[in-house]
Amino acid sequence: MYEHDVLIIGAGLAGLRAAVESVRLGVDTAVLTKVHPVRSHSNAAQGGINAALTDRGDEWEGHAYDTIKGSDYLADQDSVEVMVREAGDTLIELEHMGVIFSRDEEGRLGTRAFGGQREARTFFVGAITGSAMLHVLHEQIMRNDVRIYEEWFVTSLIVEDGVCRGAVAMDMRTGEMETIRAKAVIMAAGGAGRVFEPSTNALICTGDGLALAWDAGASLMDMEMVQYHPTTLAGNGILLSEAARGEGAYLINADGDRFMENYAPEFMELASRDVVSRAEQIEINEGRGINGNVLLDLRHLGTKFIEEKLGYLQEVAVEFRGIDLGESPIEIRPGMHYIMGGIKTTIDGATVIPGLYAAGECANVSVHGANRLGANSLLDTIVFGKRSAIAAAEYVKTVGRNGSSDSQLESDKKRIQEILDRPQGIRWAAMRNELAESLTEGIGVFRDQASMEGADAKVDELRGKYPQVSVDNKGKVFNTDLIFALELDFMLDVAKSICQGALMRKESRGAHSRTDLPDRDDENWLKHTHVYKDPDGLGGVRTETSDVTITKWEPIERAY
Ligand code: FUM
Repeated sequence: MYEHDVLIIGAGLAGLRAAVESVRLGVDTAVLTKVHPVRSHSNAAQGGINAALTDRGDEWEGHAYDTIKGSDYLADQDSVEVMVREAGDTLIELEHMGVIFSRDEEGRLGTRAFGGQREARTFFVGAITGSAMLHVLHEQIMRNDVRIYEEWFVTSLIVEDGVCRGAVAMDMRTGEMETIRAKAVIMAAGGAGRVFEPSTNALICTGDGLALAWDAGASLMDMEMVQYHPTTLAGNGILLSEAARGEGAYLINADGDRFMENYAPEFMELASRDVVSRAEQIEINEGRGINGNVLLDLRHLGTKFIEEKLGYLQEVAVEFRGIDLGESPIEIRPGMHYIMGGIKTTIDGATVIPGLYAAGECANVSVHGANRLGANSLLDTIVFGKRSAIAAAEYVKTVGRNGSSDSQLESDKKRIQEILDRPQGIRWAAMRNELAESLTEGIGVFRDQASMEGADAKVDELRGKYPQVSVDNKGKVFNTDLIFALELDFMLDVAKSICQGALMRKESRGAHSRTDLPDRDDENWLKHTHVYKDPDGLGGVRTETSDVTITKWEPIERAY
């Protein structure tokens, strides 16, 4: 058994920022991650991080308004205010830690325009912003005394008398399982994009943190809010950053028309993501697409500019499509990118379970509502990663001796041994594909009652078959066959919460666009959806709603 004051699960931007703060506060801190920290999915974040800097003539109120409008008024306005007010200091702090942000001609921190915002307030490192930030935060924890459980996989949270007291995890290198007791756990295990296919998310984004917290009794809030990014490559879902449109790229249809003129005449290609993705999907559905895609056109920017400002996109275009973006447009389509929903937290990362905090994509502090603005997610990870560490550090001072029981460990060992002992059954890969296909089909850019019910029924069917999943590799060392089977269990839970959230919401708002209920309904649905795991509830869940916090910005009609 291992013991720490704070155990952080996940080593992406939220987890590492939490770790840096926790150590700074003198707390005995451990980070546990299923991959090497710099292989976390934050590494893939391209476009940038938003901040309204007053010396640029920008104000936090403008950033708040754009974020709230972008969220289709579902974001809690007190949470948004915290995030955008802390954005400037956050940016400078990152710069002082060593993140080499791109500069403008005058040598100041450079900005670029991003969707849904009236100011260019996105700070960036080329098109590798997440990677640059992640490496710097990793350096920071390497020079401090943080225990890193690297390539460990969590199988359960330990909850005793309703209080979170650590986790059970497997050291993937040996297959040995251990109890890791902690006075507080910060869940920062990232998103669940791979519940859909294709997705811009890494294969590791299987919703582990969401499912672990859900299983422990946390609420998953607004899970129906699934973001489809407007510019992904068909087939493999690779992201072509919004930075392209921020730098001036056009979206055109098969007729060569800049179709956004018909959907968002003021913001054009830089309307919010839900609006642009819907516009693309309509163009495709109405026969103005090409091979089920529309085109991203950068030709007018010229190859030199593209290579200087958007080098990574050029590499993707050349390697995956054999295209020079300065010469030809590239086929793109909306692709699953992010889940706005997550473990409900306060602005200090606290969940309903004492001792359990959450930050980053797995959390929902309600700053993104029904649609996240590009480059607000990196800000969210850093602001709320830090805040959750501060809150956890205070909380651990109030906790006496932690428990010593190994009963959760024994039950997890038994569960895993049963999978290993199972003779030939269903392969996890087949089930994972079936799950992802049905979610993509049922909870797409557009959805309706029948499509959502179809996805929900498929999830139930697959859940019923999960006890037949078997693995070929019966060994202990790096048994990724087993890890994938365990991840699938998490994915089924996350998928259930998404379908249930979607079925609850009887309106269209942001990314939840129902063809059978196309209007926003503030009278009845200015509300968050909550789904809890409940073996006694209908379909194994319990649902409820809660009010959205409105402070200064009354909901009005949203147009771009
Ligand atoms: O398009 C992008 O670079 C994605 C950024 C984001 O999701 O924040």
